[in-house]
Amino acid sequence: MNFKTLGEFIIDRQKDFPGSSGDLSRILSAIRLASKIVSQQVNKAGLARHILGGVGRENVQGEAQQKLDVYADERFIEALNNRGNVCGIGSEENDDFIELNKDGKYIILMDPLDGSSNIDVNVSIGTIFSVFKRVTEIGEPVALEDFLQPGVEQVAAGYVLYGSSTMMVYTTGNGVNGFTYDPGIGVFFLSHPDMTFPNQSKIYSMNEGNLMRSSKGVQNYVKYCQEVDKETNRPHTGRYIGSLVADFHRNLIKGGIYMYPSTDSAPDGKLRLLYECNPLAFLTEQAGGKASNGKERIMEIRPTKLHQRVPYFVGNTSMVEKVEEFIAKE
Ligand code: AHG
Ligand code: MN
Ligand code: MN
Repeated sequence: MNFKTLGEFIIDRQKDFPGSSGDLSRILSAIRLASKIVSQQVNKAGLARHILGGVGRENVQGEAQQKLDVYADERFIEALNNRGNVCGIGSEENDDFIELNKDGKYIILMDPLDGSSNIDVNVSIGTIFSVFKRVTEIGEPVALEDFLQPGVEQVAAGYVLYGSSTMMVYTTGNGVNGFTYDPGIGVFFLSHPDMTFPNQSKIYSMNEGNLMRSSKGVQNYVKYCQEVDKETNRPHTGRYIGSLVADFHRNLIKGGIYMYPSTDSAPDGKLRLLYECNPLAFLTEQAGGKASNGKERIMEIRPTKLHQRVPYFVGNTSMVEKVEEFIAKE
């Protein structure tokens, strides 16, 4: 076997950060550990009644919390807290940020369980994470401003996909690498080195049930995707899982665009800037793609609140630029 393990890879890449304390490596190892625990629960969800279904309450965004949302949230927080070098965590499942070790220099933002509506039907789900250096002084309690940094300040970001196999894909700003989990021995192996969006892209992913409530620009772009035109290799192919991580991962490998635009009923769209859009935007740019709110670069948006939502267009640069063109004309 000549695959590299995720553990070895993390240590190797520490060389990219001369003088590094190893704190970021410890954080990535904590995420690796929590993802193994969550992966194991996900795989037996059909058998274990205690892990299926809702907990009977809503999160701050008014969404019904599933048992696995809460389970994943707790496992990631525990694993990150144990390493002692994280000063705070902002999570989609918690109203406010959580203060951890005030001597830590990193903060984490995460969507512990993405694609909740797919848990009970055995369809792929994921975890998304983003790592920043704090802006307040080490030794002080962490503050809201530590979490409200634009995406360009991310030092690492990635996702775990609990699919037909479990994968972890991440970047520290030096390319994107993907690792596949072997549950028999409990190890992630480097299976997808240096991931980039392919030049050819054909897939568009959107909840088309929302199309009539979207802007004219988005409607016209979807019409464009469906038009028959041999020269530009159209129509494109529609694919929508309803788990952002899974839709994104497929498009990264096969080439495509994922869209969650604003609608009449949700003027800021549905996806969350800090937990979903920024981390996948960092991966996207590192893989040669583009992430936009239809007009501007996602990673340059200055957040004003923790659970902020934004319209989202992410994937192959050519496709994102095309939808931007239609939006500019509307
Ligand atoms: P979450 O499960 O973390 O709340 O995220 C769900 C998100 C995202 O994963 C997915 O792409 C999108 O919501 C699906 O929304 P629709 O059901 O409106 O299509
Ligand atoms: Mn999500
Ligand atoms: Mn979630």
